[in-house]
Amino acid sequence: MKNILVTGGAGFIGSNYINYILNKRDDIFIVNLDKLTYAGNLENLKSIENNRNYTFVKGDIVNGELVDYLFRKYNIEYVVNFAAESHVDRSILGSEVFYQSNVIGTNVLLEAGKRFGVKKFLQVSTDEVYGSLGPEGLFTEENQIVPNSPYSSSKAAADLMALSFYHTHGMPVVITRCSNNYGPYQFPEKLIPLMIINILNDKKLPVYGDGLNVRDWIYVLDHNKAVDLVLENGKIGNVYNIGASQEMKNIEIVKLILNMLGKDESLIEYVKDRPGHDRRYAIDSFKIQNELGWTPDYKFEQAIQDTVKWYVENKNWWVRIISGDYQKYYANLYGNK
Ligand code: NAD
Ligand code: TYD
Repeated sequence: MKNILVTGGAGFIGSNYINYILNKRDDIFIVNLDKLTYAGNLENLKSIENNRNYTFVKGDIVNGELVDYLFRKYNIEYVVNFAAESHVDRSILGSEVFYQSNVIGTNVLLEAGKRFGVKKFLQVSTDEVYGSLGPEGLFTEENQIVPNSPYSSSKAAADLMALSFYHTHGMPVVITRCSNNYGPYQFPEKLIPLMIINILNDKKLPVYGDGLNVRDWIYVLDHNKAVDLVLENGKIGNVYNIGASQEMKNIEIVKLILNMLGKDESLIEYVKDRPGHDRRYAIDSFKIQNELGWTPDYKFEQAIQDTVKWYVENKNWWVRIISGDYQKYYANLYGNK
């Protein structure tokens, strides 16, 4: 049995990861440490909450005493650190919690991992640490780290810190840098679920700037499959880019979803651009494909349809989310549209 501390496992990618791993393997025990911020939702984990290889602990990765206690109590051998503040727009509105959770929190986990001699520490990172691309080229692991948003700078700081623990202490650290994920349980502040839900509610679709910014989309389970592989076989001290070569302009995605839901384009509203908005992200995932044999299983055309269908069929899940606090955040960002 492998004992894994998964942090942020009640969020979008972390909950998909836990569901994926526990359905696939019975040789892994998962301790899910999550603070349950606005983005953490235990409903995402309903189907496995009674699994005997799983336990949930509500808590903050910044809390060193709690982290030490969990390492001791559960004999933690592996860490997969998903826990983070993850939304660029929120980091523009206020950045402190991003540096607390994403930088200080990662430091607490690394220190504990070092002291307790973890077998592997996987830091879940993002392609956004590489900054922005022009019309040509792809991010490779050799690209410079030039983050542009408070969010991406906090993730870059965590990456560099994790690598420094490898270089200085020989700690078995690996880093994954993935492109934009989509799929079930994504909090409806991110582009795809926000657009689906606004369309279902006949609300305006706020497209930033000229709508021509490009993101490289990957289905969340393809990301999780890669995380699993890197945890098993990734070379320590290494960074692995993860991406499914699916570049799309934002406006193309919005029009595609409108079309799937049978609505016309009059809902689209171009709004003021995001400050410092990165123009294009695109990932070269040759290394993970070549070294670890990873390939994406999901085709965008099908997986985006399945995702839209999931939101249509799981209205209860998002209705509960968009009532309450999220309303205030939305009004603050977009006005009362
Ligand atoms: P999310 O916002 O949906 O979930 C984050 C989770 O972390 C939540 O459950 C939240 O409660 C928890 N959390 C936040 N701060 C915490 C703290 N201090 N202590 C304990 N738990 C805390 O985010 P996500 O989209 O699932 O992203 C997960 C990870 O993947 C993040 O590290 C993010 O940087 C990275 N990532 C995301 C994407 C993407 O497209 N969403 C792409 C690449 C990398
Ligand atoms: P987002 O889902 O926030 O991911 P990230 O900024 O981390 O890539 O945004 C994806 C793209 O969609 C990004 O270029 C910003 C744009 N966007 C909009 O045009 N309107 C919106 O309401 C949101 C949330 C994002």
